Amino acid sequence: MTGARTGARVARPRHPGTTERPVSTQSVDQVQCGDRTYDLRRLRPTDRDDIVSLASALPEIDLQFLRSDLTDPDVVEGWIHDADTGSRFTTLAHYEGELVGYGSLNLRGLHWMSHLGEIRVIIAEAHRRCGLGHVLTERVFETARELGLLKLVAQMTREQIGARRVFERLGFSPEALLTDWVIDRSGRTRDMMIMSYDLGAGKRSRT
Ligand SMILES: CC(C)(COP(=O)(O)OP(=O)(O)OC[C@H]1O[C@@H](n2cnc3c(N)ncnc32)[C@H](O)[C@@H]1OP(=O)(O)O)[C@@H](O)C(=O)NCCC(=O)NCCS
Repeated sequence: MTGARTGARVARPRHPGTTERPVSTQSVDQVQCGDRTYDLRRLRPTDRDDIVSLASALPEIDLQFLRSDLTDPDVVEGWIHDADTGSRFTTLAHYEGELVGYGSLNLRGLHWMSHLGEIRVIIAEAHRRCGLGHVLTERVFETARELGLLKLVAQMTREQIGARRVFERLGFSPEALLTDWVIDRSGRTRDMMIMSYDLGAGKRSRT
């Protein structure tokens, strides 16, 4: 594990909530993963129920570790609101009209963390291990770079070995392990692992 680096001075990224990027929810890209073609597009206000369905169908092990309860329509409504305010950018993946995954970039409201973005990716069980998680992660990287962020952060529990492998393969490094930092749906505490990817390498200066 590496400790927190201090003393870095960077050009400030555009502040969350003031993105200059015109984000279209209408355009749809097609990507090929294995022998399947997926439609990718940005989150729309009408997607609430599909997200609830996607989350509700996740295996119990994944539900245990969901950061927020996306099986709750009110929670998803909040997500959609975050998209309107520019603090969350979500790309959805559909297969034959069904929502099968998403990748999300969440910005921090805090000024001193305005250079950070948190990545979340969820893929329906039947569509895993064919590269879709990788594709959605790349979309998050693109958005983060366009916004001028300097660091991407991924949070998971110590038990989420698959997620850890995915992010390691993408170049993320372990940053911290926080004891009993999260509590799962059964009330059991878990250690949280934070991994990060430095988007702003070369922009730092130490003084
Ligand atoms: C983690 C998750 C998003 C991966 O999605 P996916 O579509 O299966 O991932 P990909 O097929 O793009 O795989 C990406 C890489 O990770 C590897 N990988 C994927 N799942 C893995 C697993 N369970 N164990 C080991 N490696 C794994 C793949 O082999 C691939 O490596 P490669 O590029 O060298 O071939 C998916 O398993 C998921 O939704 N898990 C539940 C939610 C979660 O844990 N999200 C991450 C925390 S935000």
